[in-house]
Amino acid sequence: MNETRRQGGQHEAGAHRFPGAAHPGGGPSAPRQAHTGIQAPAANPQPRLTLRSGERGDAVTDTVWAQLGGTETFERLVRAFYRRVREDEVLASMYPEADWEGAIWRLRTFFEQYWGGPTTYSEQRGHPRLRMRHAPFPVTPEAKEHWLAHMHAALDEVELPPMHDAAFRDYIERAALAMVNRFE
Ligand code: HEM
Repeated sequence: MNETRRQGGQHEAGAHRFPGAAHPGGGPSAPRQAHTGIQAPAANPQPRLTLRSGERGDAVTDTVWAQLGGTETFERLVRAFYRRVREDEVLASMYPEADWEGAIWRLRTFFEQYWGGPTTYSEQRGHPRLRMRHAPFPVTPEAKEHWLAHMHAALDEVELPPMHDAAFRDYIERAALAMVNRFE
């Protein structure tokens, strides 16, 4: 059971780690927000002037998910991505024609969980085991390049703050490489 709640390192290869610099309060297994009590704002997080709350307050340790504005931001990102995927000649046919909303929900909740947000994905779907879940689909190097191009374009569109934007792009590059499962 515990396994379903694990944060980070969610692909079997264990190659994808939560970036330490963006999460000063703990490693991948730190319980979400338990050490801060800070509630994530639904949207429009206030910009922070220092890494402390107030002059002598605790170090700010809220999650990347919260810093990015929570669910609303992830929803915009994933919708921007799937809008492109639906039109892609290599990728579109792999996705369930009748369930684009489901696909949006799965990727959005997965990303939210990965970046420290709610663990809804694993509560509903179990351990991500992404390589295994992608096995039925022909993830060739070409498909990977198409997938990545759309994700980078979606990131261009949502304009995350620079540090998180760089971390997100780094993450998807590594994760997409790990997902390739066919070479012809
Ligand atoms: C490299 C190219 C990739 C291709 C061609 C690809 C393709 C697909 C397809 C066809 C699905 C099924 C759609 C659905 O019903 O949800 C899927 C699901 C999913 N993909 Fe990918 N994917 C790729 C990379 C990635 C990467 C890099 C990630 C994460 C960083 C990812 C995360 C997911 C997730 C979370 C699901 C839903 C799994 C589930 O719960 O069933 N994918 N992908």
